[in-house]
Amino acid sequence: MHRYNHIEKLLFCSTLLNEKKLHRKLEGKTILITGASSGIGKELAFVLKDINAHLILVARREEQLLLIKKEIEQSSAKVSVFSADLREIAEMDNLLHFLHRQPDGIDIIVSNAGLSINRSIEKSLERYHDYTRTMAINYFAPVQLLLSTIPLLEKNKGQIINVSTINALLLPIPFWAAYQASKSAFDTWFRSAAPELNGKGISTTSIYLPLVKTPMIEPTAAYRNTPAMSPVHVANIIAKSMYTKNKIYKPWWLFIGQIGSLIGRRILEKILPRLLLKRGLNK
Ligand SMILES: NC(=O)c1ccc[n+]([C@@H]2O[C@H](COP(=O)([O-])OP(=O)(O)OC[C@H]3O[C@@H](n4cnc5c(N)ncnc54)[C@H](OP(=O)(O)O)[C@@H]3O)[C@@H](O)[C@H]2O)c1
Repeated sequence: MHRYNHIEKLLFCSTLLNEKKLHRKLEGKTILITGASSGIGKELAFVLKDINAHLILVARREEQLLLIKKEIEQSSAKVSVFSADLREIAEMDNLLHFLHRQPDGIDIIVSNAGLSINRSIEKSLERYHDYTRTMAINYFAPVQLLLSTIPLLEKNKGQIINVSTINALLLPIPFWAAYQASKSAFDTWFRSAAPELNGKGISTTSIYLPLVKTPMIEPTAAYRNTPAMSPVHVANIIAKSMYTKNKIYKPWWLFIGQIGSLIGRRILEKILPRLLLKRGLNK
């Protein structure tokens, strides 16, 4: 488990989860979590394990999902495992059929499955597929999933929780073009759709996350000593949003970056190319 150092404690204020409220709100509900085989999605499933609810866990790695199911079902939650590559039309169709067959419908969808890529433009020249695969899982998959399930959520006055990134609210940074563009695309879709969804009685929540210590960031050496949230903490934040129904979670300090992004754009756009050249990072 990732233990916070002093700086992390300051940056990521602790979250108090009211277990009683959580149990009361989620009792008997059906909750779909995409990307539940590792990181944030997996921890969220464990945070909900003592609730008498039906968890539908989705990801490609079935064996991981089955291990999680086995552990969780020793507690109270009922678990259905659905292995699917959400970029594949046939596999997504199977999942949608499965969801539409649920006797009690769907109450909460946590749109969490995602793929990040850290690569310079120079190294991407022959890798157009990086852009299609990030868009496929970070944008098209959640849009397709939600378009199909909105009627189910409307019937149950449900909730959609989008696991997003703080980068969607800040000036984009070099080396993350594919990831940031695809996460921002879905964030924009979701925020644009939210008023219409809210009008149908569906709650919408965007969770804007800084770095989180999950397998996603392991390949990026520069992040090894960078302050990062623990996935358990993030799972608690997501669970809390299931009873507060707050529209947004973002770290307290994000407003500083947002102000900087607004007034510092020109300066940053001048400084960044020089900085990259100086450090020989353009390759
Ligand atoms: N870690 C961070 O620093 C950070 C920061 C901000 C936002 N986020 C967001 O948090 C979410 C969860 O990421 P994480 O950090 O927990 O990373 P993770 O441990 O790598 O988890 C990603 C999950 O997505 C699933 N997934 C990936 N491609 C899929 C596909 N084609 N079809 C179905 N499932 C797929 C993976 O399962 P399989 O491989 O088994 O399919 C896995 O369960 C992502 O949306 C990410 O953008 C993460």
